[in-house]
Amino acid sequence: MAKIVISGGEPLNGEVWISGAKNAVLPILASTLLCDESMSIGNVPHLHDVTTTMELLGQMGAQFIIDERMKIHVDPRHTHNFHAPYDLVKTMRASILVLGPLVARYGEAHVSLPGGCAIGSRPVDLHIRGLQALGAELVVENGYIHAKAKRLKGARVGMDLVTVTGTENIMMAAALASGTTVIENAAQEPEVVDLANCLNAMGAQVSGAGTNTITIQGVERLHGTHYDVLPDRIETGTFLVAGAITSGRVLLKKARPNTLDSVLSKLEQAGAHLNVGEDTIELDMRGNRPKAVTLTTAPYPAFPTDMQAQFVALNTVAEGVGVVTETVFENRFMHVQELQRLGADIRVEGNTAIIRGVPEMTGAPIMATDLRASACLVLAGLVAKGDTTVDRVYHIDRGYECIEEKLGMLGAKIRRLPS
Ligand code: EPZ
Repeated sequence: MAKIVISGGEPLNGEVWISGAKNAVLPILASTLLCDESMSIGNVPHLHDVTTTMELLGQMGAQFIIDERMKIHVDPRHTHNFHAPYDLVKTMRASILVLGPLVARYGEAHVSLPGGCAIGSRPVDLHIRGLQALGAELVVENGYIHAKAKRLKGARVGMDLVTVTGTENIMMAAALASGTTVIENAAQEPEVVDLANCLNAMGAQVSGAGTNTITIQGVERLHGTHYDVLPDRIETGTFLVAGAITSGRVLLKKARPNTLDSVLSKLEQAGAHLNVGEDTIELDMRGNRPKAVTLTTAPYPAFPTDMQAQFVALNTVAEGVGVVTETVFENRFMHVQELQRLGADIRVEGNTAIIRGVPEMTGAPIMATDLRASACLVLAGLVAKGDTTVDRVYHIDRGYECIEEKLGMLGAKIRRLPS
C-alpha cells in the first residue's frame, strides 16, 4: 500500500489553488442519469471517488469523454442497466446517489446497501422512506434495495434527521415526479445547493435549496447543459489548517470563502489573521503558535463534521485545552490513537475529545483509517519534528486531488512512497 512521508517542523509558506468539491461532483454525476441528452461538467477534481462513480455509471451504459481540462462529457442516453453492485458500492457509499435518479427516470433500480464504514453505521433508511413517500415501491433483500415505480408523484417529505445525500436523492427523484414535492428538514450544505443549481440548469424547477425547506416542481424531462462544480470547502479548510498548525502563511485561490464561515471563525479564534477576497483566502499566523479552540460539529451552517479531525490535529500543538464534540457520526475519533503515537495529549469521553496542546510532537509511522482522518494525520506530520509515515493513503486519494503536490506548493516536505 502506498505511503506518504512528511518531514515536519517547518512553517508552510506558499499558495495553491482549490479543486472542485468531491461532495458536489458525486451527486451531480449521478444526476446525469435523469437527463435524456448529453451534458458536460467542469471543475471536476481528479479523485478516486470520481473515477469510481464514472465506472459505476459506465456499467449502467452511460458514456464518458474526459477532455484535457478534466471537463467530463456524459451521454446517459444508453443507460440500460439499473444495478449498482456491492463490489463498487462497498468502496464508495455515495453510490447510493444513483437510486433516486434511476427510479425517477427509468422506474427501476437495484442498488446495494452501502453497509457501514469506519466512521459509523450510516444507514440509508431516510433515503428509502423519502422515495416511498414519492410513490416508489422499495424492498430490501439480500443486501440490495430493489425499487420500482411508474411515475413518481410529488409529496411532502419530512426528514427525521438532516441527511445530505438523503436530501439529494429525494431532490433528484422529485425533479421528474408529477406535481410538487416539499422536503422539510432538508440539508442546507453548499453541495446540496450546487446540485440544485445544476438540476435547474438542466430544466428542473427546484427552489429553496440552502434552506431547510426545498420545493421541487416536477417536470417531464431534463435537457443537457454544462455545469461547473463549486470549489471544495473541506479541501479549503484542510489547507488553511495546514498553514495554521505550522504557524505559517498560505494563500488559497479558486476558493469559495462564503461556504466555510464557521471554519474561518474558528481559525480566527485560533489566532489566524485572515484576508478574504472574492475567490481567495490568505491565512497568516505571523509565526505564532495557534490557540486551542473548542467546537461542536453539526449540519451546515454549523461547524462541518468533515473538518473535525483537522481541528483535533490543530489543537494537539495549540496553546491551552481544546474540546471537540462530534454530533453527526458515532465513531469519528479513530485519528486520536494515531495522533497519540506522535505525542498528542488527547482524552476521548463519549463523543467528545479533550485535547491539551503540547509544545512539540515527534514523527512516527501511523495509519490512516478514513478520508478525513488521513488528512488530519498528514497535517500532524507537517508539524511533528522528524519524519512521519502515513500508511493506507488510498483513503486520502478518495477526497484530495494530488495532496502531496499541493502541500508541496505550500512548502511542505512531503513525498509518496509507491506501494
Ligand atoms: C455526506 O454523507 C458527505 N458525503 C459526508 O462526507 C459528510 O460527512 C456527511 O454528509 C455529513 O455532512 C457526501 O456528500 C458524498 P448524512 P452522508 O446522510 O450524506 C444519519 C467526506 O468525508 N443517517 O448527512 O452519507 C447518518 O448515520 C464524507 O467527504 C441516517 O440515520 O451523511 C449520520 O449520523 C464523509 N439515515 C447522519 O444521518 C439515513 O438514511 C448524517 O449523515 C441517512 C443518514
